[in-house]
Amino acid sequence: MSLHPGPILGIETSCDETSAAVWADGEIRSNVVASQIALHSQWGGVVPEAAARAHVESVVPVLEAALSEAGLSVGDLKGVAVTNRPGLVGAINVGVTAAKTLASFHGLPICAVHHIEGHLLSAFIEHRELPMPTLALVVSGGHTELVLVRAFGRYEVLGETLDDAAGEAFDKSARLLGLGYPGGRAIQKRATGGNPERYRLPQGLEGDTRNFSFSGLKTAVMRLVDQEGDSLDLTDAAASVQHAIVSVLADRTARTAEDLNVRSVALVGGVAANQALRDRLAMRCARLGAAFSAPAMEYCTDNAAMIAFAGAFRLGRGEDDGLEFDVHSNAELPSVTSPASG
Ligand code: KG4
Ligand code: ZN
Repeated sequence: MSLHPGPILGIETSCDETSAAVWADGEIRSNVVASQIALHSQWGGVVPEAAARAHVESVVPVLEAALSEAGLSVGDLKGVAVTNRPGLVGAINVGVTAAKTLASFHGLPICAVHHIEGHLLSAFIEHRELPMPTLALVVSGGHTELVLVRAFGRYEVLGETLDDAAGEAFDKSARLLGLGYPGGRAIQKRATGGNPERYRLPQGLEGDTRNFSFSGLKTAVMRLVDQEGDSLDLTDAAASVQHAIVSVLADRTARTAEDLNVRSVALVGGVAANQALRDRLAMRCARLGAAFSAPAMEYCTDNAAMIAFAGAFRLGRGEDDGLEFDVHSNAELPSVTSPASG
């Protein structure tokens, strides 16, 4: 497998971050993210129409900043990669329109990237030598999946959430506890020094499964808030929520690695920014003798570096999706059928 040398411009607008990044000479040269957190926090969650409008306002300045930080101009580009699925269709359309306009105007190949493939490959941006297969836990606001990465482009989904995603569980619990949006970071912050065993919360599915379920946790947090009223200790509650989510994620991932005798485990997606999860999964992998890796924080939450990197892989294989591809709110992970080649 050889990655395209670039320069490739990556664009990501599938949810609430407008991001552009440049891949050149085998590395990420810039990764600019304009977050909409301040905008959406007034409503306590992402409002799709507002997200799309904010992407329209930010997309050109963010593209310009990514190019200028990389010391390049648009004429230097050799390809474009853009998230086209899954996510908020109105939001994705903004990035896709910008990408297609650039590709069409400058005659560049263009690659439509699955957002979760971006998250999966983010594990390899700083660790190209990770052994295959690598077991990846993808945890974000919309996804919770255990994926066996056999090679770049060859993915096997081993397990997934049957209801809420892990990030959603953080976000909904934080809202119930009045800790604000986005919930993951708020809960992590509040949990510092708290007693994770103070409140017993469910960890979803029991037994020998590779799937997850977080909807029972949300109901339990709702009941806890009702029952405890003013006497609820928010620090202990945040620590207990974090513990419930983190333990089931880390333990089930480690057990799957052990069952499959996989020697390498990666943690990716927005929830991979959670320090308790990074620590617990690292500890479980060390006990198994498996290598553990998680990307730098800037490559965990949504970013275009991972999209540019996925583009370097796909454009490096000679793929070009042309200008006719669509955007999709839902989509299966793509798998290539032949081994990656030149
Ligand atoms: O990957 P991402 O940026 O966007 C999606 O693709 O969904 O993930 C966003 C999710 C949110 O649910 C947010 O609460 C969660 O990642 N998150 C965290 C932390 N930072 C972000 N969850 C737990 N701890 C964190 N430090
Ligand atoms: Zn994401």
